[in-house]
Amino acid sequence: MSAEILPTHTPALFQQAVERAVALLQRGEVVALPTETVYGLAASAWDPDAVARIYAIKGRPAHNPVIVHIADATQAAQCTPHWPPLAARLSAAFWPGPLTLVLPRSPLVPDIITAGGSTVGLRWPQHPFMQAVIRACGFPLAAPSANPANALSPSSADHVARSLGDRLPLIIDGGDCNVGIESTVVDVTGDLPRILRPGILSSEAIAHAAGVEIPRTTPAPGTTAPLRSPGQLSRHYAPVTPLVIRRWIDDADLARQLADDRCTPAETWIVSYRRIPDSGRFPNVVLIPDDPEAYARALYGELHRCDQAGARRIVVEAVPDKPAWDGVADRLRRASRVDEAVR
Ligand code: TXA
Ligand code: MG
Repeated sequence: MSAEILPTHTPALFQQAVERAVALLQRGEVVALPTETVYGLAASAWDPDAVARIYAIKGRPAHNPVIVHIADATQAAQCTPHWPPLAARLSAAFWPGPLTLVLPRSPLVPDIITAGGSTVGLRWPQHPFMQAVIRACGFPLAAPSANPANALSPSSADHVARSLGDRLPLIIDGGDCNVGIESTVVDVTGDLPRILRPGILSSEAIAHAAGVEIPRTTPAPGTTAPLRSPGQLSRHYAPVTPLVIRRWIDDADLARQLADDRCTPAETWIVSYRRIPDSGRFPNVVLIPDDPEAYARALYGELHRCDQAGARRIVVEAVPDKPAWDGVADRLRRASRVDEAVR
């Protein structure tokens, strides 16, 4: 199979693409759809066989639950029997948008979605195409990111086509993702919100909207604490090329730091935003914006490009230790953990 790729850049194409996607989803097929965070691999949330197909296509372990995408309050109520005050505050502030709320799960939600757990992750996405498809289907869509398990998430239709194009009937091209990294996942089943996966919505923004104080620290990847969210696994969101994070004072310092490695400067791609290396010394310098939102938007595209260019090593300039950068810092940390690959 080679996926059909449908564009959406005119109202007529958009409508045709909605109809095609809906027809397949109603038949229990899996299709790749754009969202504002990353592309998703979608199937009817009410159809366990269709959701099983998502797991098979991704090679995702059965113990890793998938999130459910909704497009109205009725669908949210179908998925969860309780709507805690914290969920009300956070959804009012950030939905539709890049926020996933972990809530008690209703019996309507198939076990395969929750990996047998008692909670379900819910997100009301902001992307107009995703919203149109969910509304036209009339059922919520289960959708993890549209990449093979543990690989880098796709922020364009081309990324999906390259990694999963031969396993899907349809990929909808809704353009480059505006947020660029996966949603912030927040557990709202307790007294305080717990950030299970940082994202572009910072801990400060979550705390402010929830009207509470929460610690900024996110669970350190690789700790032995029980897994609340498999997105906490260390090795995840990783390009194929080994990636290291470095801080340097100047080019000489960077050259010193890289001297021990077996790669030459010609085999090394350097992703930097402040201390930009001289291209005479380092031929493959990738510039990325010095702003957390613009950085997140560009990040996966640049890492995919490094992979495609045949880089043997990616060196990323360390990002600031500030709440607004936590989502980006988290993804870079996981991308750099080559030794702790998830089995
Ligand atoms: O932005 C996003 O969230 C994208 C787009 C497509 O919506 N989706 C996405 O899905 O990133 P996925 O499956 O790749 O990541 C969802 C994360 C995983 O780390 C999963 O373990 C966690 O959310 N998760 C899902 N359901 C959960 C639950 N009931 N409790 C705790 N964590 C959950
Ligand atoms: Mg994912």
